[in-house]
Amino acid sequence: MSDPFALVPGRRDRLAEYAEIFRGSAIWDRYFRSGGRLRNSLEKASGRGELWCACTPDGAVAGVMRVVPWGFCGLYHYLSLIGTASPARGAGAGRFLMGEFERMARADGCRRSSLLVSDFNDSALGFYRALGYWELGVIPNAVKPGIAERVLLKDLESGEE
Ligand SMILES: CC(C)(COP(=O)(O)OP(=O)(O)OC[C@H]1O[C@@H](n2cnc3c(N)ncnc32)[C@H](O)[C@@H]1OP(=O)(O)O)[C@@H](O)C(=O)NCCC(=O)NCCS
Repeated sequence: MSDPFALVPGRRDRLAEYAEIFRGSAIWDRYFRSGGRLRNSLEKASGRGELWCACTPDGAVAGVMRVVPWGFCGLYHYLSLIGTASPARGAGAGRFLMGEFERMARADGCRRSSLLVSDFNDSALGFYRALGYWELGVIPNAVKPGIAERVLLKDLESGEE
């Protein structure tokens, strides 16, 4: 069966829509409540060609991610942000975006893909584990004081999709 999503580059004129995807999530409450920080990150990502969306056939945005090429110590591509629109959560948009992220990493010759997940985000941790990510370690206060970040990696050479 063909994929119900298409990968398209993030558009500068849709940044507000992408930001809305995160409203109400645990990371919105801890990191993005003011809105400005998320907007700045999305804007920077879009300017650098790091912003990607999962779109449905009718052009609706089901999810968004920021991929920083070689963002993990210059070794592996790094997933800086991912979110799926709440009506579409659990419908495969997250898996689709992660598959595309890993495809980009493989295409560029990365042995692994990488990301951080915050200690409070149990739901996202379950999602990443379901997709084959393992924990390298935990960095306390990495992004915000009082919040630890788990460093998650996936081995891409095993062939596991
Ligand atoms: C995390 C998030 C991106 C997952 O996206 P999603 O569209 O719901 O994920 P999918 O529907 O593609 O699920 C993919 C797989 O992960 C599994 N999964 C999802 N959440 C899970 C959880 N909490 N525990 C275990 N497995 C989980 C699904 O069962 C599915 O497995 P399957 O394909 O074998 O059925 C989404 O919940 C989200 O946007 N959260 C808010 C923002 C956020 O916290 N982002 C991450 C930090 S930047």
